[in-house]
Amino acid sequence: QKQGNKIKVGFSQAMTTDDWRKQMNSSIKIEASLRPEVDLYISDANNNIQKQIEDIEKFISNRVDVIIVSPIQSKPLTAVVEKSIKAGIPVLVVDRKIEGENYTAYLGADNIEIGRIAARYIISHSKGSGKIVEITGASGSSPAYERSLGFVQVVNENKRFKIENTIHGNWEGESVKASLKSILGQNKDIEYIFSHNDRMALSAWETAKTLGLEKKIKFLGVDGLNTVSGGIELVKNDILDGTILYPTGGNEALKLALKIYNKEPFAKNNILNTIVIDRNNAEIIENQMDKVDQQQAVIESQQGAINVQEKEYASQNNLVRLLSFF
Ligand code: FRU
Repeated sequence: QKQGNKIKVGFSQAMTTDDWRKQMNSSIKIEASLRPEVDLYISDANNNIQKQIEDIEKFISNRVDVIIVSPIQSKPLTAVVEKSIKAGIPVLVVDRKIEGENYTAYLGADNIEIGRIAARYIISHSKGSGKIVEITGASGSSPAYERSLGFVQVVNENKRFKIENTIHGNWEGESVKASLKSILGQNKDIEYIFSHNDRMALSAWETAKTLGLEKKIKFLGVDGLNTVSGGIELVKNDILDGTILYPTGGNEALKLALKIYNKEPFAKNNILNTIVIDRNNAEIIENQMDKVDQQQAVIESQQGAINVQEKEYASQNNLVRLLSFF
């Protein structure tokens, strides 16, 4: 039974140890704060699959109205999503996918396309050996699988280029170091290293630096956060050659969850835009993101007022809608 007449949205987040997920949480919270009719509950699975299954089961037994989930891995989270659908609670899957089609909607950037964009970037910028190392995200998570799929496909279409080695990382910087050190020790003419996120790309650069190879090799990452040591800063500091923006979609997720709840028309697959960030556009993108961050800070500090003043709420809401283009 619903308490009062608030709409209960349960968000099962995979973990919150990194800045990308911190940003996703803050943007979904801001969106929720602008909607007094919404109660948002965020549970943090701490990268523990069993905990994430239990988190979702709690949302089901508490009868929330909509569940949003970013699944740590695809396969082990599929059954509990299906259980929720069977119980009549719609599920919006974000960022990482489950297996099969038994969910209400998906929202996220196209990860196969991100892999292809990375490969095309390398192909069009290469002047050297054409030898590449790929560093993947955690196995079993769909962005790692899909980024690889697109990347390998496009590299293999070009005879001059070869993926010399694939390192199976786990999305975190530490997972890169030992294997990359031994690969670079044996192979001095690697030209490009594509890492499935910027944290691992930075770690790859640091590893190359210990061998004096950081200027010879070019590094590409994914995420493009506008934070301290985020992808944009790494590009501006000439550590990364480029990064491919992977928007968190936090505010879009809440909006879509409400469309689903209100039975408005929506697409099953909702694809967020991406863009390559390199030295040509890093500054302008940073400026745009700074503006959005400033506006969000203003909105956050006005939260209290928004909750009680309907007029204020409507105009701020339009502002966020405008800003979410960036
Ligand atoms: C954050 C993260 C990002 C990556 C995404 C993939 O936890 O590792 O760096 O792009 O997850 O799901």
